[in-house]
Amino acid sequence: MSLSTVSEIIRELEDEIEKLTEQLYIAESPTYHTISITEDLKVGKQVSNLRFDRIYPKMLRKLSTTHWTPVNVAQVVTDLLVTKQGTKVLDVGSGCGKFCLIGAITKPDSQFFGIEQRSYLNEIARRASQSFDLKNVSFLDGNMLRLDWNQYDAFYFFNPFWENKMSPFTRIDLTVAVSENRFDMYVDTARTRLEKLKKGTRVVTYHGFGGNFPNGYECEASIPIGSGMIELWVKQ
Ligand SMILES: C[S@@+](CC[C@H](N)C(=O)[O-])C[C@H]1O[C@@H](n2cnc3c(N)ncnc32)[C@H](O)[C@@H]1O
Repeated sequence: MSLSTVSEIIRELEDEIEKLTEQLYIAESPTYHTISITEDLKVGKQVSNLRFDRIYPKMLRKLSTTHWTPVNVAQVVTDLLVTKQGTKVLDVGSGCGKFCLIGAITKPDSQFFGIEQRSYLNEIARRASQSFDLKNVSFLDGNMLRLDWNQYDAFYFFNPFWENKMSPFTRIDLTVAVSENRFDMYVDTARTRLEKLKKGTRVVTYHGFGGNFPNGYECEASIPIGSGMIELWVKQ
């Protein structure tokens, strides 16, 4: 297939996604559904993924098992990352915001940030945050490479770069260029950034981040859960 055909297909897909996004409806103020989820999460009750994911359009619900953090995992990760008021948490590759939304609901005294390369997912995440009436969560558009990581106290990675190694059938969509080289470059950059973060920085991974932690980090918890493992690493 020639490069121009590939670009054309990508352009058509982008147009299609834009049209679909316009049709997506997420209530921009609280509903019975979002209020009841908020109440249950705040008291640590279990909320099924099926129930939570109903906030999302069908096409995103279908991706949930592979690409979005399960609710029970997000609850554990949040408790590991936030140990004091005012913690600033960054989700590297935040998708449609599922982890950040759950974190922001359960830790109202902390701030959650997501950086995401697909802006239509951020648009959906922002609408969902309005539906949950959250003021402590923000979704930033762009590549994680361009963000200054020093502004944050804690980081979450749900194996964000793995899509570079996935078959086209299991990827989120085909709008983002992927390659093994890109995977290696993202993992190396993340590793270098982690190395330079301040003492006490907490980093949690679910299914890892693609590489080994740099020197200076200690693994303080390893918890088998869902389809993988949660690990807490702390900069010494
Ligand atoms: C496995 S999903 C996790 C989504 C979210 N963190 C969650 O747990 O529900 C990984 C996300 O990372 C995003 N991503 C991958 N590489 C990225 C990069 N270099 N910069 C920004 N986002 C990226 C993808 O677009 C995808 O939405």
